Amino acid sequence: MGFPSERPRRTRQSDAWRRMVRETRLAPDMFIYPLFVVPGRAVRHAVESMPGICQLSVDEAVKEAQAVAAAGVPAVLLFAAPTQKDAKASAATDPKGLAAQAITAIKAACPELLVWADVCLCGATDHGHCGHVTPEGVIDNDPSIQTLAEVALNYAHAGADAVAPSDMMDGRVQAIRTLLDAKGYAATPIVSYAAKYASSFYGPFREAAESAPAFGDRRSYQMDPANVREALREVLLDIEEGADLIMVKPAGPYLDVIRQVRDAVRVPVVAYQVSGEFSLIKAAAARGWIDERAAVMETLTGIHRAGADLIISYFAPQVAQWLRA
Ligand code: PBG
Repeated sequence: MGFPSERPRRTRQSDAWRRMVRETRLAPDMFIYPLFVVPGRAVRHAVESMPGICQLSVDEAVKEAQAVAAAGVPAVLLFAAPTQKDAKASAATDPKGLAAQAITAIKAACPELLVWADVCLCGATDHGHCGHVTPEGVIDNDPSIQTLAEVALNYAHAGADAVAPSDMMDGRVQAIRTLLDAKGYAATPIVSYAAKYASSFYGPFREAAESAPAFGDRRSYQMDPANVREALREVLLDIEEGADLIMVKPAGPYLDVIRQVRDAVRVPVVAYQVSGEFSLIKAAAARGWIDERAAVMETLTGIHRAGADLIISYFAPQVAQWLRA
């Protein structure tokens, strides 16, 4: 065979043909939308580096959650930026803390919307690192995973439908699973940020979540962008420890990682299209250099095609609307 009898263009010649032979389809059901909660009332504070994204007080986060649910997005991922920051990350383990309040309020207003709670110490520590820090400035793994487990328990108790540890400490999935099971939350799933890279694409998020490290960087716990075998190791360890879903993050620059992980595991694979990926598209679109809608759909289709079952994206409600229109 071959040309001239082989002509792949035959099934591309009209929209109807292209729709029929399409191999990858996005659906609102696969999206999760991040929300950033801050103290106060009636606060909608625009995040400058992320056009269209706001830091929200709990009352506003509830309204946003209702709008997201109405758009057909099944889940939100909650981040809290409390004002109280200390060495122990007290705001994150406090049952009356900002994150706990937000979880309870959103679940009360939209019971059908899933609330995934990001579990980390960076938003609640004075040094902004994802674990505890020794006097020498070293990130101290084993005490950190005990605190992370307490944070996860606090959020499960507040009503979270899933806890999502994003800290990258070793053994934290096991520590969280053990404590949740012991305290009556055996049914709460763990979404593990298993292959999370030390990425330059988190910059805009750190403004939104007020979680930039006060010294150093995160390379002693987040992964080297050059590694993929190590990602598989991280993912398999987290599944052994009890992760129900695993995540690759960022998404766009790591499509090969997503594919290899998808082929290696049986649990759902989540990819996080992070703040920098969002802001790049927004910035280029604002200058008229790129067609925003087409670029958004292309990046998300690529992430899904690479093997992500679920996608966390700041475009989620917009995409759900486009997909329904
Ligand atoms: C906190 C956390 C980060 C992101 C999600 N959880 C930032 C970081 O690790 O520095 C990034 C999300 C984004 O950029 O959209 N550990």
